[in-house]
Amino acid sequence: MSKLFAVIGNPIEQSRSPELHHAFAEKTGVDLEYVRRLAPLDGFEASVRDFFAHQGTGMNVTVPFKEQAFALCDQLTERASIAGAVNTLWMTDGKLYGDNTDGQGLVDAIQTLNWPLDHSQILIIGAGGATRGVIYPLVKAGVHKLVIANRTLARAEQLIAALKHTVPEAQLQACSLDELSGDFDIAINATSASLSGAPLNLPESLHFDHAYEMAYGKASSFLDQAAKRGVPVSDGFGMLAGQAIEAFYIWNGIKPDLKDFI
Ligand code: ATR
Repeated sequence: MSKLFAVIGNPIEQSRSPELHHAFAEKTGVDLEYVRRLAPLDGFEASVRDFFAHQGTGMNVTVPFKEQAFALCDQLTERASIAGAVNTLWMTDGKLYGDNTDGQGLVDAIQTLNWPLDHSQILIIGAGGATRGVIYPLVKAGVHKLVIANRTLARAEQLIAALKHTVPEAQLQACSLDELSGDFDIAINATSASLSGAPLNLPESLHFDHAYEMAYGKASSFLDQAAKRGVPVSDGFGMLAGQAIEAFYIWNGIKPDLKDFI
């Protein structure tokens, strides 16, 4: 019997995870079925329990349930506990395990592009859950200085205060989006501006050599401005494929090559 996996979220029709996992399965010879699962906004826990009670092997969790998944787990990996959010679930000996592969997915995507991370200076715009999930993996990949710029400065400061003890080797700085300036190896957009279609105005005094947009499949004013500056750009499909590969590896013990899927 093939192993059963699911991605759970609300909404869920837009998810490309089934397509990715079926492509990995074909490449690696793993026999699996991977489905979309719509949970009611007040029914996340019941849906997860039901899935694992009916022979489910693993679940990916997407918006808006990653924090609820974190709270539900009996065991967390270190990176999930630092992220405060879980995107990958599995059950072992009756215990629910949770990991967060989003940050490593971003690192894998950037490394596959051959953009520099080791000893780099990185700018992340945004200070929400998406940023929180990637700080630790970026620093473990060698990032030296990380500036977190946010429309609401206090939120960037709070995030740094909460996480700086987990990455003592890196220099973390908060900055307001209006006052942003300086030179960076990579600028990463982790705001939800592209999802809502809102413009994000980058100051002239800001310079960067590469631009990574975490969202994918949407118009991005961040990427438009970066492209006008003539720097290499990427949307977040590589990150999506990267986090999926990391989850596939946890569940199946085989790691497909990201290069084959982006
Ligand atoms: P996520 O979990 O996707 O990170 P979130 O926690 O709601 O979502 O955070 C959204 C982030 O996008 C925040 O950093 C938000 O800035 P504020 O903290 O100032 O609200 C940022 N954001 C959303 N729309 C934006 C816009 N139009 N311009 C700039 N920043 C925006």
